[in-house]
Amino acid sequence: MASGRVEPAYCRGSHTLVVSMAMFKQNRQRLCERLHKNNKVPKGAVILLQGGEADTRYCSDHEPLFRQESFFHWMFGVEEPDFYGAVEVDTGKTMLFAPKLPAEYAVWMGKLLTEDDFKVRYEVDEVYFIPERGLNTDSGKYSREAAFDGISEFKVNNEVLHPEISECRVFKSDMELEVLRYANRVSSEAHKEVMRNVKPGMYEYQMESMFHHYCYFQGGLRHLSYTCICGSGDNASVLHYGHAGAPNSKQLHDGDMCLLDMGGEYYCYASDITCSYPCNGKFTEKQKGIYNAVFKASRAVMAAVKPGVSWVDMHLLAERVQLEELAKLGLIQGDIEEMMKVRLGAVFMPHGLGHFMGIDTHDVGGYPEGTERINEAGLRSLRTSRTLEHRMVLTIEPGLYFINVLLDQALANPEQARFMCQEVIEQYRGFGGVRIEDDIAVTEDGMECLTVVPRTVEEIEQLMAEGEGHKVTLPQEAGKPSV
Ligand code: GLY
Repeated sequence: MASGRVEPAYCRGSHTLVVSMAMFKQNRQRLCERLHKNNKVPKGAVILLQGGEADTRYCSDHEPLFRQESFFHWMFGVEEPDFYGAVEVDTGKTMLFAPKLPAEYAVWMGKLLTEDDFKVRYEVDEVYFIPERGLNTDSGKYSREAAFDGISEFKVNNEVLHPEISECRVFKSDMELEVLRYANRVSSEAHKEVMRNVKPGMYEYQMESMFHHYCYFQGGLRHLSYTCICGSGDNASVLHYGHAGAPNSKQLHDGDMCLLDMGGEYYCYASDITCSYPCNGKFTEKQKGIYNAVFKASRAVMAAVKPGVSWVDMHLLAERVQLEELAKLGLIQGDIEEMMKVRLGAVFMPHGLGHFMGIDTHDVGGYPEGTERINEAGLRSLRTSRTLEHRMVLTIEPGLYFINVLLDQALANPEQARFMCQEVIEQYRGFGGVRIEDDIAVTEDGMECLTVVPRTVEEIEQLMAEGEGHKVTLPQEAGKPSV
C-alpha cells in the first residue's frame, strides 16, 4: 500500500475533524454484542467481510477515485481497496488482510506500508498480507475468488450478519454523530458560500463547482455524498436532475428559482442538504408563497419529531401542511382530509419525506424484516416506514414541485381534478420546485438539527445581499473563447 498516515486517527489538517479509530472499535463491539444475543450465532463464530475493490475505468488502466464499501468502512475505517477484515465474535479480536503489492509499486504509490504500519493505522490486533495471486499481466488485476482459499473447511452462514450490522448502522454512536455533525457543518458553510456568490448568468455546474471546492478546500471533504442536483427554473422540478444526461448545464436566468441539493462526506460519513432560492437573491411573491409553504411543513415535522413517532405520520403531516398552504395560495380548494384520501399531496410532492442517513446518503435499515412499504402514491417512495428512535439520523425534506406529467395526470383524474384550480395552477407551470432539506438526529426527547443554513426568506435574502459587490467573476463574463 502507498505511504500514508501511520497514526491511529483520520484527519485532513488541524482545521478538520480528527476521527479516532476507537469509533470503529466501538462499532465492532456493538455488532458483537448484538450477535451474542442472536441464537443463530454459534460459539467461536468469526465475521468475515470483504472491502471494496480497486477498479479501472472500463478497459483502460485509469483508476477512478476509490471510496470504501460502506459496511466495511463502518467496521474498520480502512481507506484502501482490496482488504478483507475479520472479527472474532466472542473476543472482539480483529484482523485485517491487506493486499501484498509488488515492491516496485512503491515507484507509483510511494512507500508501501508494512503489516505493523497497518496495525497502528487501523488499531487492530493483527494484520496479514494476502499472498499474491493470479496477476493478469495485461490488466494488472488479480483474479479473485469470492472468498479465501480453504473457506470450504468452515461453516459459513451468510444470512445472519446483514440484518444485524444494518440494524447497528441505523443507530449512530456519539463518535459517529460527531463526524456527521462535521460533514454537515462544512456542507452548510459550502451552501452559504454558493448563496453569496450565485448570480444570473452563472451556469448550474458553476454552483456545483463552488460547492465542491469549498467542501474540499475548507473542510477536507474529498468526496461528495452524491451527484449534486443544481436545478434552476423548470429543472428545479426534476427530482434527480444533475445526472449524466442532464448535467447541471443550464445557464441561470434572472428570476429563476434554484434548487440545490448538495452534500459532502467526511471519512465516508454523509450530509444531504437542499437549499432553494431565486438566483437573483430576491423572492417574488409567488416564490415566497411556495417557499413558505414548504418551510412551514419542514418546521411542523421538526416540532413533532421524537422517539415513538411514526415516520409515515410525519410524511402525512408534511403533506397536510403543504396542502393547507396551497389552498391558501388558491391552487387547490376543498376539504383537506378528502384530498389526503385521494393522495393529492403526492401530485406536488411525489417523493418521501426523508430517509436514514449515515455512511450512505440513503442509509441502510429502512425496511427490516417484517416491515413493508405502503403501496400508495408518495408513501411508497418512503425509504423507511419505521417508528423513530433515539440515535436515528434522517433527512427531513418536504418539497413542492410543478411537474407537468404529474399535473396532467391529476387534471385528467376526476378524483383529484375536483380539488385543483386549473387556472391558477397553469400559472405555476415552469416554476420548478422548492425543497428544504435538513439532516437531523433523533434525541431522547426530540431532535437535533445538524444542518445550519439560512432558512427563512429574510435570512436567505440577507445572506445573498451580503455577496453583492464581491461575487466571483465568471469566465463567461470575459467573453467567448475561440474554437
Ligand atoms: N439528496 C439526494 C438524494 O436523496 O438522493
